[in-house]
Amino acid sequence: MSATLLSGKDASAAVLQSLESDIASLDPKLVVVQVGEDPASSSYIKQKFKSCQSVGMRSEHKHMPATTTLDELMHEIVALNADPDVSGFIVQLPLPAHLEKHVPDIIKSIEPRKDVDGFGAYNLGKMFLNKDFEDLPPATPSGIILLLDHYNIDVAGKHVVVVGRSNIVGKPVSMMLLNRSATVTICHSKTKDLGTITRQADILIAAVGRPKMITADMVKDGVVVIDVGMNRTDDGLCGDVDFDAVAEKASAITPVPGGVGPMTVASLIRNCVRAAQRQE
Ligand code: GUN
Repeated sequence: MSATLLSGKDASAAVLQSLESDIASLDPKLVVVQVGEDPASSSYIKQKFKSCQSVGMRSEHKHMPATTTLDELMHEIVALNADPDVSGFIVQLPLPAHLEKHVPDIIKSIEPRKDVDGFGAYNLGKMFLNKDFEDLPPATPSGIILLLDHYNIDVAGKHVVVVGRSNIVGKPVSMMLLNRSATVTICHSKTKDLGTITRQADILIAAVGRPKMITADMVKDGVVVIDVGMNRTDDGLCGDVDFDAVAEKASAITPVPGGVGPMTVASLIRNCVRAAQRQE
């Protein structure tokens, strides 16, 4: 393999180190609300707390039972919105089935200044203006931008193909790339002849949640590949990209795990520091 490995471990360590002095002076606090026992969520949350601890940031786990009602969850959110000691908080997704249909209302109820996931309409809307208004961008898109920056990969004028149109990754990362003068194509489940489009990509971002769906015949030589997928399969964790085959053609590629995942955590912590700065 000749491709450069885009290590989220290295890049996130650099991002976290750059936050240490602000964390020491502002003493921000992150709260993660978890409802139920989704094993993937528990593992992500563990990573978040580990990183908080590594940079000396206060964090708290509000772990509520799977039977929590919408009223009880909303009550907790209202309390966190009002608590001056809490700089930012997130409600870990997915939620148990009975709450899942209420996710838009739940996100809407989070005070925008504390919305460190950047999932609410206020923070998402600001991103549409330009780069200077990306105050609390969603953590995964922001992590992807920080990773590209860390490896000096300039996106201006490049054709970036984003596969996936979720509100958490595909849509916001497309906007952040546009803010940095990339030419962006967004593909999704209804896109016709996906390979014809992905083969045009200078930079390919895969965020669909389907194991190894991006195969070597779908990319051109020299492509930069960012794999957002975190799929649990019988063979273990794997991304949306067929790593071994695609790495033979790519100039740079993220591993899974150890690529985008640690960048998401670093960006969440960065957002929490920013939230604390803006609340000063
Ligand atoms: N579930 C998977 N990723 C995320 C994330 O970035 N934030 C929240 N709240 N839930 C998630």
